[in-house]
This record gives sequence, structure tokens and C-alpha cells, in this order.
Amino acid sequence: MKKLALVLALILGLGGISLLKAQELPCLKCHTSANPLPDKIKKSGAKSAAELVEFIRKKSPKQALHKTVTDEDIKKAFEQFGKK
Ligand code: HEC
Repeated sequence: MKKLALVLALILGLGGISLLKAQELPCLKCHTSANPLPDKIKKSGAKSAAELVEFIRKKSPKQALHKTVTDEDIKKAFEQFGKK
């Protein structure tokens, strides 16, 4: 029975880690150092989180690549990388 508890603890622990990972910005799955997000945001010319959402949704020729990301994530990305 002790073994079972150990296995359970392990599974819960791993679950916790993947939950934490899920909160990381999804942008960073594609925007690695070879395709850096701060650069892209700067080049977009967006001066606010709302402008960045507008740009990615309507103006960017790359909008099809960003169908899976949410407006919330775009705003978070701007908060983290846009104001430099
Ligand atoms: C599915 C992969 C993927 C995801 C997820 C992703 N991007 Fe991109 N993004 C790309 C690719 C590929 C490009 C084009 C890179 C290039 O042209 O060098 C790009 C380009 C951009 C550009 C520049 C667009 C332009 O027209 O100049 C911005 C800004 C950008 N991404 C922001 C974001 C933000 C913010 C997120 C998260 C909310 C995000 N991306 C998530 C793949 C992705």
C-alpha cells in the first residue's frame, strides 16, 4: 500500500509541474531565440497591448500562425516584452 501512495504522489507531482508549464506564455513555444518575441513586438510598432492584439489579429501577414493564441496571451506577451 505504501508503494501505491508513492506512485500517486509522483503522478500528482508531475501533474503540478505540467500545470505550471501550461501557464507559461504559449508564444514561447514558437518564439525561441531564433525567432525572438521582443524583436517581433518592437517591429510590429504596437505601443499598447490593445494595439498588439489588433496588429496580430488584423494587420500581420502572419495572422494565420496566431489563430491558436488568445487575446489574453497577446496582452500578457506585451506586458512582458513590449515595453522596453
Ligand atoms: C504556432 C507558432 C507560433 C505561436 C504560438 C506564436 N507565434 Fe508569433 N510568429 C510565429 C512565426 C513563425 C512568425 C514569423 C516569424 C518570422 O517571420 O521571422 C511569427 C511572427 C510574430 C510577430 C511578427 C508578425 C509580423 O507580421 O511582423 C509577432 C508580433 C508575433 N509573432 C507575436 C506573437 C505573440 C504575442 C504570441 C503569443 C500570444 C505568438 N506570436 C505566438 C509563430 C508563432
